Amino acid sequence: MERISLNLDKTFDFISKDSVFAYKEVIENHNRALFNKTGKGNDFLGWTTLPTSISEAELKDYEATAAKLIAKNIDIFVVIGIGGSYLGAKAVVDALSDSFAHLKERKNPFILFAGQNISEDYLFELRELLKNKEYALAVISKSGTTTEPALAFRLLKNDIEEKYGKVEANERIVAITDESKGALRSLATTKGYKTFVIPDDVGGRYSVLTPVGLLAIAVAGFDIRALVIGAVDMQNATGIDVPFEENLAAQYAATRNELYKNGKKVEILVNFNPKLHFLAEWWKQLYGESEGKDGKGIFPAAVDFSSDLHSMGQYIQEGERTLFETVLSIANPDREVRVPTDADDLDGLNFLSGKRVDEVNKMAELGTMLAHVDGGVPNIQIVLPKLNEYYLGQLIQFFEMACGLSGYTLGVNPFDQPGVEAYKKNMFALLEKPGFEEATKAIKKRL
Ligand code: PA5
Repeated sequence: MERISLNLDKTFDFISKDSVFAYKEVIENHNRALFNKTGKGNDFLGWTTLPTSISEAELKDYEATAAKLIAKNIDIFVVIGIGGSYLGAKAVVDALSDSFAHLKERKNPFILFAGQNISEDYLFELRELLKNKEYALAVISKSGTTTEPALAFRLLKNDIEEKYGKVEANERIVAITDESKGALRSLATTKGYKTFVIPDDVGGRYSVLTPVGLLAIAVAGFDIRALVIGAVDMQNATGIDVPFEENLAAQYAATRNELYKNGKKVEILVNFNPKLHFLAEWWKQLYGESEGKDGKGIFPAAVDFSSDLHSMGQYIQEGERTLFETVLSIANPDREVRVPTDADDLDGLNFLSGKRVDEVNKMAELGTMLAHVDGGVPNIQIVLPKLNEYYLGQLIQFFEMACGLSGYTLGVNPFDQPGVEAYKKNMFALLEKPGFEEATKAIKKRL
């Protein structure tokens, strides 16, 4: 099977190829440290070999649970979670779904998310919608204590119990959490929900290939086996003994570190297909939470082109020269649309007659890359032969491997997120949560 490919040529006007390949030894050592679990954050390295560790029994369980929920003729499957307990499933489902799935007849339920914000409007409107729909819920939290999903679940649990009665509601709720810790685990055990365990050594943002992502992806009707096979192939292609010259994740990690050293502090993940919007959101979380610490880290940003060429394009072309772009390119689109000939040609578009719309898109992509490079923005290109489960599986494992290597090269622990606690502490102090009395007094003095 073909692999996704990495093209670094359009960075070599800014950094030399030699300077990138000079990371060989360092990154090969980091790769060994990831697999041998000898580096920072080594309690959270289960994802490195996760693809090959997924058993047939686990896949069957996800598929059977999905089938059982679908058999209830649900219109909507609500996935409650935030951060790594949300973005992976959203990224894959959106990338593979029809752009207008929510407005068309569908074989599978539509996946909606909750607990990824605390907006009262969002929760009100979601609950209004669900009143007239058939639905089921998954509640996902590794810690089992995160406020946003806990709050959303409290509301939706009451609603689903009211609508279907407690016994049937319990049949429609799946909890995905730690094996033994956290409030969600106790709640799920008390209620007798179907549960899946998030492995201890896989952190949230590296967990899309666990039940955290795979159950919702299966309910949406996508082939989780192909996704896992893609990830397995990439696990092998970036394995412990793979030399730097053949390891795409190692080369991507080296290039972005070298660009960062040369003043390129912002990486923009670019797509030319709006289905990839949430893949970029997942990538932003993966890299932002993994690398942004100790006063260091590339700021991960994202744009959807060509839409954003008419908003952010000006800045990227001529603003601060601290940017580089990583373009996610899909070689072959799934569908075919050709430009028709028009006898009057009043719009002057007959020069495109007979061409595929994708050819126009590809020329926009190439033209943009050349223009941005001319404007001082190095470009990395990652090509997926097609947008399907198999190549997405490869891409997920590729980005995760590269993130671990890149974080180690930067000198940070890519597997913790201590900075996320600061807002929680203030929020709890402001809400006068029991146990936060001192913090409440202190914060109130600042208001
Ligand atoms: O990557 C991470 O660990 C975080 O983004 C978590 O996924 C996020 O904070 C949600 O945590 P939990 O699954 O414990 O509710």
